[in-house]
Amino acid sequence: MEACKGLLIEDFYSFRNDLKQVYGDDAPLHIEIGCGKGKFITELAKTNPHIHYIAIEKNLDVLVLAMEKVQAAGLSNVRFVAGDAGVLSDFETQSRCEMIYINFCDPWKKSRQAKRRLTHANFLDIYKKILIPGGKVRFKTDNRPLFEFSLNSFSDYGLRLKNITLDLHNSPWNDGNIRTEYETLFSEKGQPIYSCEAIYPA
Ligand SMILES: C[S@@+](CC[C@H](N)C(=O)[O-])C[C@H]1O[C@@H](n2cnc3c(N)ncnc32)[C@H](O)[C@@H]1O
Repeated sequence: MEACKGLLIEDFYSFRNDLKQVYGDDAPLHIEIGCGKGKFITELAKTNPHIHYIAIEKNLDVLVLAMEKVQAAGLSNVRFVAGDAGVLSDFETQSRCEMIYINFCDPWKKSRQAKRRLTHANFLDIYKKILIPGGKVRFKTDNRPLFEFSLNSFSDYGLRLKNITLDLHNSPWNDGNIRTEYETLFSEKGQPIYSCEAIYPA
């Protein structure tokens, strides 16, 4: 952790009124929630040097691995937040972030745990505060019940759904798709990958 400390946003809450100040410029800002070991964010940031990224991860053990990957790749457009996505709930930074990526988040299978799902309406409220009008959530999962829950949640919230697929890797939207660690694991087991985009009103 010490060697990559420069990549960590230690005072993240101080940016609650203007997320763009993390980088101090007006470049497009995208956020990944639950980046795990960081393969996705590293490849994404390499492919899009003009975009700035913030990756939020609550598990410090995997966060360190993600930070090491970004450091080894010599990228200057990724910063990390150590903590829960709930930290965003106090942010008032509308019109600052263009895209939120949620990849293979925990399904929280029991219905009494539904509020913990990162696609629950409570989280959609939080994302609304930090996204630009017309901002997007890009969502991938291997879990069919979670996918169905999420489609309903996005739709009930009034988001426009796009590029919905029950088999991402055999769909037209696989072009340019960057596989996450979990995505590779599940797909090697023959499981289809579910994916969609949910777009906030402009
Ligand atoms: C199943 S793993 C998937 C990791 C990676 N996205 C991938 O696809 O390989 C889910 C990750 O999200 C993180 N996570 C889950 N809920 C979170 C939350 N509320 N805030 C931040 N990170 C979260 C977990 O710690 C874990 O690393």
